[in-house]
Parts: sequence; C-alpha cells; structure tokens
Amino acid sequence: TRCFAIVPAAGSGSRMRSEQPKQYLSLLGQPLIRHTLAALCASPVIDRVYVVLSVGDQEWDRHDWTSFGNRLVPLFCGGASRADSVLNGLRAIADDTSESDWVLVHDAARPCLAPWHIENLVRELIHDEVGGILAVPVADTLKQADSHQHIAATVPRDGLWQAQTPQMFRYVMLKRALESARNVTDEASAIEAMGLRPRLVRGDPTNLKVTYPLDLHLAEWILQHREE
Ligand code: CTP
Ligand code: MG
Repeated sequence: TRCFAIVPAAGSGSRMRSEQPKQYLSLLGQPLIRHTLAALCASPVIDRVYVVLSVGDQEWDRHDWTSFGNRLVPLFCGGASRADSVLNGLRAIADDTSESDWVLVHDAARPCLAPWHIENLVRELIHDEVGGILAVPVADTLKQADSHQHIAATVPRDGLWQAQTPQMFRYVMLKRALESARNVTDEASAIEAMGLRPRLVRGDPTNLKVTYPLDLHLAEWILQHREE
C-alpha cells in the first residue's frame, strides 16, 4: 500500500491578522509552508505530497519548489472550508490512487512536524481497519461556560485529547466520509460520523498549529532547538 500526503493550504489565516496568509509568513527565513512540505517530502514512508492551494493563490509561484522534485504536486483547488479543500484535493487525485492507499492529511500551518511524528503514526496504523490521528492528552483544566461567561461546570479532562494532524485514513473511506459530512473541522470527525472509531496515536505538543502571532515565535524556537 502507498501513503499520500494532502496538505490543505488554502486558508486566509484570519486569526493571525497578517497581510499574507500565514502559510507564507517567514519562519527562519523560509515561507512557513516550506518547513511543512520539507518534513513530508523527506519522509521515506510517504510516496507523494499534494498541496491544496486556493484557486487565486498569488504567492506559490513566486517561490522555487524544484528542490522537492516530483514528490511535491501543487493543486489549485482550495474550497471555502478546510474540509472542502481536503475533499477537492481528494477528488483531484482520484486517477492516481487506488482503494487501499492511505492518505495523511496534514495542516500546512503545522511546520514543526518531525520525522518521528510521521513514522509513529504510520507504524501504529498501517495495519488498522479504520485509521487514526496524532493527538495529545489535554493538559489544562477545562471549564464549561454558561451564556454569561460564568462557569457552569468543570469538565473532567480524563480521556480528553487535543486533535493534531496528520490524520491518516484510507483514500476511498475518507472521500466518502467527507462527501457526507457537514461542518467538520477535521477528517476524524467525518469518519466518526459514519459510526467508525479512529485511533488516537500519541504525538507531542511541538507539532503545534500556527494560529496566533505567538505561535510563530514558538514554532521558530522549536525548529531552532531541534536542529541544534
Ligand atoms: N485551510 C484550507 N482551506 C480553507 C481553510 C483552511 O486549506 N478554506 C487550511 C489552512 O491553510 C491551514 C489548515 O487548513 O493550513 C488549518 O486551518 P486553520 O489553522 O484554521 O487556518 P486558516 O483557516 O487559514 O486560519 P483562520 O481559521 O485563523 O482563518
Ligand atoms: Mg480556519
């Protein structure tokens, strides 16, 4: 079986409040997304990396991606939501895939993906019936708010995990799940909605998503200290 990566990179990064979409912001002198794509393209367990860009992306062609060779394929077919972008990407690669292929969906906005994250996920799931995701146990105490922002309840955090990416599922199952899903923020919830139970594979917090400006600094620190 083969493993393909799909990287949704068609968002606008509204919470980042920057001029450019966050995937192109500079991180250690490179566009943020280059770190993400480099991690995936360098992985021996991944056969090809498809990056889903917005239809009107102005920035991609300004950079030189030739060092990734034909392992990296850009698709200008982003959608209105992350799930739409992923589904459009899955549809675009239909002719290159077979039923048993795995797809690893990974956010462009997670540039600190490390080789061991990918390898652990694939090792744990390659013989699985359903698939699963990288995740980390919740560390903070969680509060349920009422409509006036008072605490209505303290939610026990036992058994609660924060979902990360990559999220790894079979091509056909994932496409079918996303086609029937409504308003999902990750692939696993679409699979869950079909009555299936994806596995949680423990990752670590360094695989953070760059969402707010502070995250860019954290990501820089993580990458710098990993290279030393
Ligand atoms: N994404 C996408 N297509 C969309 C929305 C998001 O491909 N229509 C991608 C983003 O580019 C990002 C990933 O999905 O790599 C995770 O989404 P998120 O962190 O929410 O990014 P944005 O939607 O760009 O940011 P924001 O929600 O702050 O606007
Ligand atoms: Mg978003």
